Amino acid sequence: MSTIERPSSAELRAFKKTALEAAQVGGEILKKYAESGFQVEHKTRLSLVTDADKESEQAIVTLIKNAYPTHQILAEEEGMHSDHPSPFKWIIDPLDGTTNFTHHFPSYNVSIGLEYQNHCILGVVLDPTRPELFVAEYGGGATCNGRPIRVSQVKGLDKSLLVTGFGYDIRETADNNLDEFCRFTLRTQGVRRTGSAALDLCYVACGRFDGFWELKLNPWDTAAGVVILQEAGGKLTNYEGQPYSIYEKKMVASNGLIHDQILDVLRQPA
Ligand code: IPD
Ligand code: CA
Ligand code: CA
Repeated sequence: MSTIERPSSAELRAFKKTALEAAQVGGEILKKYAESGFQVEHKTRLSLVTDADKESEQAIVTLIKNAYPTHQILAEEEGMHSDHPSPFKWIIDPLDGTTNFTHHFPSYNVSIGLEYQNHCILGVVLDPTRPELFVAEYGGGATCNGRPIRVSQVKGLDKSLLVTGFGYDIRETADNNLDEFCRFTLRTQGVRRTGSAALDLCYVACGRFDGFWELKLNPWDTAAGVVILQEAGGKLTNYEGQPYSIYEKKMVASNGLIHDQILDVLRQPA
């Protein structure tokens, strides 16, 4: 990434403290509902939302608003929380992996990213089930539970383990990633689907996966993960190989070494 203007180290430290507090608060709410039970509603046929998503979002947004009342906040369930112009925008997924959560499958997280002048500068992803806390700030490296993390050294697609996800409109469209999933399955050691895009990015960042692609992402799925991946030495583009923006739907993330090989497979005609 080219050098970007960023807040002072003291400001960044304060933002990180707020993001960590907010992620812990959200994580506790997810744990509480995982134990006590929850109501499930359908946003669409396959897209679910629970009281855990809503309460986690409310608590996180309240905490951030109290700390930084002039900042913008974009959160998955309620959208934009303020129209104030501000160079800062917090981007929140209060429960990434809702389908897993509703099935008690332990792969979900709270994801909190912070943009400054349209660049993601801080990312916190908390998986309360393991528990694992991934954190990164621009220029400061990435950690998991306080230990520095790096992407893998795998150089060939045939030696790689990839991960992907599918959009909630999978039954309604032919542009549903199934074809790409088959192609990569035949070209790699395996393709996994965790059901949590933020964790997918963190797992590439710490070398558990070598690459990730997905085609229907939203900014709250990726805002925190992109900082973690980049600070761990990873590479991010869209399907055309251009720099990725969190406002784009299609992303390729990798250890950098197999990035072009992933792009080549995505470019092959169906
Ligand atoms: C979803 C998960 C999933 C990805 C979807 C996302 P949600 O987020 O990250 O892995 O494949 O594209 O929408 O709805 O559980 O917050
Ligand atoms: Ca999500
Ligand atoms: Ca979510």
